[in-house]
Amino acid sequence: MEKLFTSSKIGTLELPNRLIRSATAESMADVNGHPTEKLTALYQQLTRGGVGLIITGHMNVHPSGRAHPNMTGIYHDDHIPGLSKLVDAVHRSGGKVAVQINHAGMHARGEGIDETIAPSKVLGDFVKNTPREMTIEEIDLIIDSFAQAAQRAKESGFDAVQVHAAHSYLVGQFLSPLSNKREDIWGGDLNNRMRFLREVSAAVREQVGPDYPLLIKLGMMDGREDGLTLDEGLRVVAVLEEMGYDGIELSGGFGGKKLSNVRKGVRKESEEAYFLEFAKKAKQVTNLPILLVGGFRSRSVMESVLANGEADFISLCRPLINDPDFPNKLRSGELSRSECLSANNCWAEEPGDGIACKCPIEKVK
Ligand SMILES: Cc1cc2nc3c(=O)[nH]c(=O)nc-3n(C[C@H](O)[C@H](O)[C@H](O)COP(=O)(O)O)c2cc1C
Ligand code: SF4
Repeated sequence: MEKLFTSSKIGTLELPNRLIRSATAESMADVNGHPTEKLTALYQQLTRGGVGLIITGHMNVHPSGRAHPNMTGIYHDDHIPGLSKLVDAVHRSGGKVAVQINHAGMHARGEGIDETIAPSKVLGDFVKNTPREMTIEEIDLIIDSFAQAAQRAKESGFDAVQVHAAHSYLVGQFLSPLSNKREDIWGGDLNNRMRFLREVSAAVREQVGPDYPLLIKLGMMDGREDGLTLDEGLRVVAVLEEMGYDGIELSGGFGGKKLSNVRKGVRKESEEAYFLEFAKKAKQVTNLPILLVGGFRSRSVMESVLANGEADFISLCRPLINDPDFPNKLRSGELSRSECLSANNCWAEEPGDGIACKCPIEKVK
C-alpha cells in the first residue's frame, strides 16, 4: 500500500502526510535575526506546495551561536512578534511548522563574534579557528538558552521544536570525541559526552511541558577517524525516548568528504536514501517515529522505505529548494522524481538573499 500521502502522528502532532521539509538555513533574516517578508513568503509557498511539516532553518539560541549572517534568531523575547507572524502565515495557509534550535559552537561566525566557544580548545581540519573551551558557567548558560528558545518557540505558536544535534554544531561537538577532549564530567566516555544533550533535552522538555512535540536531528556518526561511531550513535538513539523526544530525524557527518550530510551527485535510485542503514539500525533500538533525510528524490524509493517500515517520515531539503511545489507534483503524478541535480549550488549570489536553486536550468529539465 502507498503510504506517502497518508496521515500520521509525531507525539501529539498530527500530520497530513509523510513528507517533511528538513531544516534548511534560509539566511533570509534581517541583521538582528528577525524573519523577513521574503522568509514568510517562502514558508507560505512551501505550505501551499503540500509538505506535511516545515522544519525551519536552524535558529540560534544565543548570540554566541550564530552560524552565519542572516540566520534567524530565537535568543531574545524581541524575536517573538516576528516569529509569531511567520507561524500565523503558515497556519493561515493550512500548514504546520516546527522550529530547529541550534548553537553553532566552534562554527559560529558573523558580526559580534570575536571568539568562538566549544567543548574544548581543539583545532582540527574541521574548524577554521581554534575555539575557546567553555567554562562550566557557559555550559549552564547555553543549556538554559536552549530551554528559553524552546519556550519562545511555544509562545510564538510553533507546532513543535527540533533540537539540532547533527552536522558538527555544538550538541554534536559535545558528542564527538574529535571536538570534546574535556576531562571533567562533560567529556570522556560516551555517557559524559552525552551529558550536554541530556541536560539540554531535560531543560527544553521541562520548559515546554510534557505534551509539546519535541524532535531531534541526530548525527548518527562522524564518518571520520576517531570520531563518533555508528555504535555510539545507536546508543544515543536508544535513550532519546527517555530524554523526552517524540521523534528522531537521522543524519550524519562531521564535515569532511567521507561522510557528507549533503551528498552531491544523487542521480540514480541506488544513490538515494544514503542514510538508510542508520534508519534500519535505529528501528531496532527505538520505538520512536523515524524521520529519514538524505538524498530522497524518487517517489518509488520513498514509498519503498515507508512500506518496509524502515522510516515513518521522509525528510527533504534540496528537492524543496528546487521546487517547493514538489509534494503536490508527486501527489498528482506530474512528477515521479525531483528535478534537483544534487550539485549543491543552493545559494543566491548576494549574501543575505538566502537560498536559491542555482544549478544550471538546462540540465535540470
Ligand atoms: C542550503 C542548505 C541549508 C541547510 N541547512 C540546514 C539546517 O539549517 N539545519 C539542518 O539540520 N540541516 C541543514 N541542511 C541539511 C539538510 O537539512 C539535509 O539534511 C541535507 O541537505 C540532505 O537532504 P537532501 O538530500 O534532501 O538535501 C541544509 C542543507 C542545505 C543544502
Ligand atoms: S541548486 Fe542544485 S542541488 Fe541545490 S536545489 Fe537546485 S538543483 Fe538541487
